[in-house]
Amino acid sequence: MPWRKTKDAYSIWVSEVMLQQTQVSVVIPYYERWMTRFPSVGSLASASEEEVLQLWQGLGYYRRAKSLLSGAQYVLERGMPSDISGWRKVPGIGAYSAGAIASIAQELPVALVDGNVERVYARLLGDDSVGPKLTKAAWGWAEANICSEHPGDWNQGLMELGATVCTPKDPKCSGCPLQLECKGFLRGLVSELPAPSPKELVRDLTITFLILHHGGSLFFSRAKQGQWWSGMLVLPTPEDVPVAGWTEDLGRFVFRVTNNRVKAEVKLIRLETAPQGFEEVPLERLQDVPIPAPHRKALKLLQRI
Ligand code: ADE
Ligand code: SF4
Repeated sequence: MPWRKTKDAYSIWVSEVMLQQTQVSVVIPYYERWMTRFPSVGSLASASEEEVLQLWQGLGYYRRAKSLLSGAQYVLERGMPSDISGWRKVPGIGAYSAGAIASIAQELPVALVDGNVERVYARLLGDDSVGPKLTKAAWGWAEANICSEHPGDWNQGLMELGATVCTPKDPKCSGCPLQLECKGFLRGLVSELPAPSPKELVRDLTITFLILHHGGSLFFSRAKQGQWWSGMLVLPTPEDVPVAGWTEDLGRFVFRVTNNRVKAEVKLIRLETAPQGFEEVPLERLQDVPIPAPHRKALKLLQRI
């Protein structure tokens, strides 16, 4: 992991934000590219949102990229925080990220809890609570047990134990260094912990994506604040296109976004003239603009015809 080779707070910040909802193997090439393009807080702070989103595309949860940008602008103005309360004031930095940067980069004795730590805690202590109650208990435990000599190593060790040994399915208890003091293991409750929380409702939706084609270009909408993928270029839907022309069915696929399962139907419209009110992107420039992964998937259907 390239971020293990540095104590630079900005580098740790970037890596931890990327690692929050994404696996290590996926993050590594994104991290390398990001650090090449934005090696310092200053270089990121002066970037456009467009470029930041472009570099982030494919990682998902794009709010993280925008938070990094506004966080960098804040830090450039006020200076790099030197303690946990300073980090918590940076826009976009929550309790987890603040704990990670302060403990890993600055060796400050502060705790952190992510999904991995929460699971290790629930099993180790045999705690069958769920939701915010479990999270709160895990924070209390993590704060009470932080290793003050090596807080960064301790926190990363805990997360890694959760990611590699105390895994959600089939935890490797026989090789676990905590086995002899693990209440979940000793009571035979490992497979029941953490206790399942009431299932989130999944919504089924159908959306039609329109690929507007004219003269070697495609025409996109810019997703607005509050919409999915805000700031990125997205394919228009029938509501955005008042005059429907002759349409060609390109196919369908299913994707997930937040708690929705979306069936996407993709149609091609070949236009006689350039449509008004859209952003024109020449076909050969599609790689250079921020387009979310499901919309890119829709565009792939175009190449098959
Ligand atoms: N998951 C997120 N950040 C991590 C880190 N620094 N070490 C191990 N696992 C992690
Ligand atoms: Fe997790 Fe098993 Fe280790 Fe307990 S003994 S911490 S359940 S891997």
